[in-house]
Amino acid sequence: MTGFVDCHSHLLAGVDDGPRTDAESVQMLNDSASGGTRILFVTSHLDERYPWTPQRASALAEAFDHLQQLGADVPGCPELRMGFEIAPRPGAPEFVADPARWRLAGTDVVLVDGPDDIPMQHDAGILAYVERVVAAGLRPVVAHPERRAFLFDGDHDFAYELKSKGALLQVDSGSLLGCDGPAVAAEAHRLLAEGLADLVASDAHELGEADLRPVRDLLHERFGSDSDALLDGTTLEER
Ligand SMILES: [Fe+2]
Repeated sequence: MTGFVDCHSHLLAGVDDGPRTDAESVQMLNDSASGGTRILFVTSHLDERYPWTPQRASALAEAFDHLQQLGADVPGCPELRMGFEIAPRPGAPEFVADPARWRLAGTDVVLVDGPDDIPMQHDAGILAYVERVVAAGLRPVVAHPERRAFLFDGDHDFAYELKSKGALLQVDSGSLLGCDGPAVAAEAHRLLAEGLADLVASDAHELGEADLRPVRDLLHERFGSDSDALLDGTTLEER
């Protein structure tokens, strides 16, 4: 099987901090397709800015159906799959719901929002939610653990703690390419060099970010073709 599997992206127009318009969504689908992605998970935020409600659930489902219709006109459009990026705010409805509800479609994986450049309500819940997902018999994937370096540069224990609790670690392509600055880039590269990273994904929010070729080329240069496993979806196959 050739092609990338991108397990983290924001492509639904107007539902979170991703694209605002259909035209932007379509351009991002084109970026993903021309970059060689064969399966694209669309993982809209559930967090303090965009909390889960029944209305939001319906809006996201409708927006996903609409994106699939738009994709019909995109040459080589990846297979689109619905997902969520859940920010584990302790006590929030999405935190206490059955984690199976937030699985990436067709997998046993739950994408858990990780650290960010500013303190977030969910920072306190990441480790507890990893335990919760594992207890449910599913696999937690923690997004961009390297962003821990924004606030706590040099805290290498955080990633080890996540791994020891059973999390898979997903590094962002933009982090590796230096888009989030040198501290985050260094942490992203350390996670790969030490074999702690399980997945690389685009976390695309904007035009150009869904094309995975630049990060594939960087990974080949630094780690050789074995690094293809970070991008080809083998880790996501249901266990
Ligand atoms: Fe994201």
